[in-house]
Amino acid sequence: MLLAAIETSCDETSAAVVRDGRLLANTVASQIKLHAEYGGVVPELATREHLRNLIPVTQEAFAKAGIAAKDLDAVAATQGPGLPPALVIGFQAGQALAYSLGKPFVGIHHHEAHLYSPWIREGRADFDALEPNVSLIVSGGHTMLVHVRAELDHKVLGSTVDDAAGECFDKTAKLIGLSYPGGPEIDRLAQRGNPKAYDFPRPMVKESHDDFSFSGLKTAVRYFLRDHPDVLQSEQSVCDLCASVQAAIVDVLVTKTMRAARRLNVRWVTASGGVTCNRGLRERLRSACAENKFQLRIAEPSLCTDNAGMIGVLAERKLLRQVPPTGLNEEVRGGWALP
Ligand code: KG4
Ligand code: ZN
Repeated sequence: MLLAAIETSCDETSAAVVRDGRLLANTVASQIKLHAEYGGVVPELATREHLRNLIPVTQEAFAKAGIAAKDLDAVAATQGPGLPPALVIGFQAGQALAYSLGKPFVGIHHHEAHLYSPWIREGRADFDALEPNVSLIVSGGHTMLVHVRAELDHKVLGSTVDDAAGECFDKTAKLIGLSYPGGPEIDRLAQRGNPKAYDFPRPMVKESHDDFSFSGLKTAVRYFLRDHPDVLQSEQSVCDLCASVQAAIVDVLVTKTMRAARRLNVRWVTASGGVTCNRGLRERLRSACAENKFQLRIAEPSLCTDNAGMIGVLAERKLLRQVPPTGLNEEVRGGWALP
C-alpha cells in the first residue's frame, strides 16, 4: 500500500510517504524560529505558516519518495488533538486529496501515533516485534502513561492534571531567561551542571496512581529564583539549576513509568514525544530499565518531535487491519482525548 500522511497539529508542517511499513519520505518544516520571538506558539501565525508550507513540504516528500499523487492508495492526516485552526489546514488538504483521487482517507489521533512511533526503526515499522508495554508519551502539550496490550489495543493509565513535562521545561527555562523552546536549552546547560546542587520537589512521585502534576515544580523554581536571584549571575550555578530542575522532572517521569510497568507485569517500556529528545531522560530510562530488567524502546530523535511519518505508519496499519476510513464530512477534534 502506498499512503501519504500530513501533520499540522501544532508548529511543525510535515508530510510523509509510506509504502508497506517503510518510510519513503518524512519531511518536516519547523516553525520554532517564528514563534521564538513570542516565547510560545501563536495559533494565528502557526496557521498561516502551515498554509504557506504545506504544498512545498508535500511536494518535497513526494519527490524524495519518487511518487506522484496519482500513485497513492490512501491519504491520512492528524485529526486531533491540537490547535484547531492549524489542524484544519492539514486535515482538509488530506480530505481533498483523497476525494480527488477517489481513495480512502484516515484521520489519526496524534498521541496514538506517538504511542507506536518507538516501533519504527531506520525507516521501517517493526510491528511484528511489538509486545505488551507501558508507554510514556511526553511532549509540549501532553504527559501520559499508556498500557499498550497489543497493536491498536491500549488503555490510558494516567496523564498530567496541569502542566505537561515539556511545558514545565519551557516555563522554567523562561524563568531562568533561556530562549524558547526551553527544553533543549535546559538539556544543553544541564550537561555541565550538578543535578544534586538544588533540591526541587518531585510532585506526585510517591503516589501510587499514574497521574502527573508539574505546575508545583514550576512554582518552586519561581520562588527559588525570587529568594536566590544571585544564582543567575554565575554560569556554573545556572548549569547547576538546569541540571537540578531536569533531574526533578526526569525522576518523576521515570519513577512512575517503572512503577506502572512493574504493576502491569509487562516486559517492555517505550517512550516518545518531544521531551524524549532529552539526554537526561534517555539515560535515566536506559539505566532504570536495565535495573528493572525491562526491554526499552525510545523513538528515534527524528520521530520524537512532531512528524507525519508516525501518522502515516499508524494509518497504514489501521487500513490493513480493516479499521473503517474516516468520512470526508468529518471535522478536526482539537480537544480529542486518547480513547
Ligand atoms: O512532541 P513535541 O515536538 O510537540 C508537541 O506535540 O508538543 O514536543 C515539544 C516539546 C517542547 O516543550 C520542547 O521544549 C520539548 O518537547 N523538548 C525537550 C527537548 N527537546 C524538545 N525537552 C527537554 N529536552 C530536550 N532535549
Ligand atoms: Zn506530539
